[in-house]
Amino acid sequence: MSAPRVAIVGATGAVGAEFLRVLDERAFPMRSLRLLASPRSAGTAIGFRGERHVVEALGDRSFDGVDVAFFSAGGGTSREWAPKAAVAAGAVVVDNSSAFRMHDDVPLVVPEVNRAAIAGHRGILANPNCSTILLVLALEPLRRAAGLRSVVVSTYQAASGAGQRAMDELREQTRRVLAGDGPPKAEVLPWPLAFNLFPQVDVFQADGFTKEEDKMLFEVRKILGMPELPVDATCVRVPVERCHSESVSVQLERALTVDEARALFAAAPGVVLKDDPARQGYPMPLDFAGVDEVAVGRVRVARVFSPGLTFWLCGDQLKKGAALNAVQIAEAL
Ligand code: A2P
Repeated sequence: MSAPRVAIVGATGAVGAEFLRVLDERAFPMRSLRLLASPRSAGTAIGFRGERHVVEALGDRSFDGVDVAFFSAGGGTSREWAPKAAVAAGAVVVDNSSAFRMHDDVPLVVPEVNRAAIAGHRGILANPNCSTILLVLALEPLRRAAGLRSVVVSTYQAASGAGQRAMDELREQTRRVLAGDGPPKAEVLPWPLAFNLFPQVDVFQADGFTKEEDKMLFEVRKILGMPELPVDATCVRVPVERCHSESVSVQLERALTVDEARALFAAAPGVVLKDDPARQGYPMPLDFAGVDEVAVGRVRVARVFSPGLTFWLCGDQLKKGAALNAVQIAEAL
C-alpha cells in the first residue's frame, strides 16, 4: 500500500500544531498533506518538513482524494464533517472530539490498551478524552494483574485542554497580574485561571457531575470493556500550560504490594515509572510536557480501599492525550 494522503481539520489549533510535530517526529509516511481550519485562517501558511502549506477553509471538496483525516476542531465540526469525509469521500477519520466516542460502531481506542478494537471501524475511529487516555494507560496493567473494582480520580488539568486560546489567556492573565494591570479577565475559560484553579471542566450535568467527569466514567468503561465499573471523577482546571496530572485511588480484586505495582507500571507500554520518594522524585507537568509516555509515581497501598492502591500520574495532554494517540491509531490502521 502506498503512503496515505493526510488531512488535518483544525490545523491552526493547539492540537493541530501538535499533530504536525508528532507526524514529523514519527516520520509518519504520507503522500500529501492538506491543512484545514475555519475561514478565519484560510490563506495562512504553515511550514511542514521544509514545505509551505497553505491552510484552506473546510468545505465540500476538502476530503477529495484524502485517505486519513485527523479531526480536532470541536464536536460541532466533527458531527457535520466527519461523516462526509468518511462516507462521501471514503477517508478514514480519526476524531479527537467527543462527538462519536460513545457510538456503538465507533471504536474508542488507546492502542496500548485495546488495539484490537480498531478492526471494527466503519470509517470513523474516536480518540478518547485526554484525561481518560492518561488514566487507562495506568489502569490497564493493574486490571490485568489484580482485577479492578472501582476508581476514584481527581484531575489537575492544564489550560491546553481548552485549546490554544485558553493557553494564550492564561499567559495574558499571568502578565496582567504581575504587571498590576487589574484583575485578570476570563473570556475563554469560565473563571480567571492565573494564580487560581477551579473544579469545573466542561458543563454541569443534572446530577452535579460535569460532562468531563462523565466522559471519564463512560469512556474508561468502554475502553476497558467494563460496563459496570464505578468511576468517581473530579476534574479541576489548574494554571499549568500543558500536561495534565491525576490523583488516582483504585479498589482491586486482589492485593498488590507497592513493589509489585511499581514493576507493573514500569513494564506497561506507554507508561514510565518515576517513584523515588527518598529523592523527592515524582512526575510533574514541567518534566513530562513533550514526553510520549504517561508517568506514574507516589505509588502506595490505599488506606480507604482494601485491597487497593493510590498513585499519581502526569501526561502531556496535547501529545499522548490527543495528537500522539490519534497518530498511533492511524499507524495501527
Ligand atoms: P481557526 O484557527 O480558523 O479558528 P483550539 O482547540 O486550539 O482552539 O483549535 C481549534 C481548531 O479548530 C482551530 O484550528 C480552528 O480554526 C478550528 N475550527 C474551529 N471552528 C471551525 C469550523 N467551524 N470549521 C473548521 N475549523 C474550525
